[in-house]
Amino acid sequence: MLGSLRRIFRHGYAIDLGTANTLIYTPGSGIVLNEPSIVAVQLRPPRLLAVGNEAKKLYGKSHPNVETARPLKDGVIADFNKTNLMVRTFIKMVNHGFHLTRPTLVIGVPSGTTQVEKKAVIDAAMQASAKEVHLIEEPMAAAIGAKLPVHTPKGHMIVDIGGGTTEIAVISMFSTVYSESLRVAGDEMDEAIVRYIRKRYGLQIGIFEAEKLKILLGSAVQLPNTVEMSTIGRDVIEGVPREFRITDKDIFEALQDPVNAIVESVLKGLSYASPEIAGDIMENGVVLAGGGSLLRNLHLRIHKATGLKVARVKSPLIVVVLGAGTVLENFGLYKQTCIV
Ligand SMILES: Nc1ncnc2c1ncn2[C@@H]1O[C@H](COP(=O)(O)OP(=O)(O)OP(=O)(O)O)[C@@H](O)[C@H]1O
Ligand SMILES: [Mg+2]
Repeated sequence: MLGSLRRIFRHGYAIDLGTANTLIYTPGSGIVLNEPSIVAVQLRPPRLLAVGNEAKKLYGKSHPNVETARPLKDGVIADFNKTNLMVRTFIKMVNHGFHLTRPTLVIGVPSGTTQVEKKAVIDAAMQASAKEVHLIEEPMAAAIGAKLPVHTPKGHMIVDIGGGTTEIAVISMFSTVYSESLRVAGDEMDEAIVRYIRKRYGLQIGIFEAEKLKILLGSAVQLPNTVEMSTIGRDVIEGVPREFRITDKDIFEALQDPVNAIVESVLKGLSYASPEIAGDIMENGVVLAGGGSLLRNLHLRIHKATGLKVARVKSPLIVVVLGAGTVLENFGLYKQTCIV
């Protein structure tokens, strides 16, 4: 009874508006939505057909009157209208019951988000009838979600490898002392696989097929035994579909550039750390978060390049929204971690 009364009065959502996935957390219920950031619209007459999982089913299926899109690119809003529509629909999907107030939102954004990008997120949230909107940088939310002691003077390095961006941050005393946002992450790995297969085998595969190959065969260090699977691509010259076999060695090769770019960014972050912070990172190691950190052996590759301990958080795909949820639930304490 007391719980539901509290919910009526203190009504809010924490949102991880990701390039690949959107998650919503609400105090009292936890994660109430976890869907791909995809919108499907009918062109004539214009109307929303679906968002999230339902829209993903239509993705890449060519139909002259249907357009499916991922409205976020590189972690930021690329298509304002579609993001707006998506956020409003997702909030409507979870906003059941009776509330006396409009919701307060805490939304994760990439570090280094520009003023224009921040305004776009805030406007989208306000149009989804939010009462107030706070923004938190995703690495900070990930660190809080992973229960790192962000309040202490010790420096912690967190690397959030999402779909659109890899964010590297050093956090200490509730603030970010260093951050770098690299527009290379899981999506770029998928695109690199598509490019590699086209160049090497003359076959075109879809982006979700590439993602499947990355998850099933991908590794950031060479695997000792060959693993292979068959897939279907369209012959780029003859235009006909062809089944072919692909091995982990192909995927390893294809992923070299994006994986190297991520490793180099971590090294760059370390080179910027003061001697004191470097000492803390030596002691605490590097913490990986985000879906991209699930790439097999990525922690090992970063460990080999840096010589540091590297650990992945327990639930890399949900840690940002959990952290944003903690901020919403303990706003008095964590207000200082929000950038807006
Ligand atoms: N097992 C896995 N191995 C490799 N990559 C994976 C695995 N599982 C998920 N991914 C990748 O994780 C990425 C999505 O991660 P996440 O949901 O953290 O991104 P996001 O938060 O939506 O993006 P961003 O933070 O960049 O806006 C996708 O590129 C997906 O392919
Ligand atoms: Mg993310």
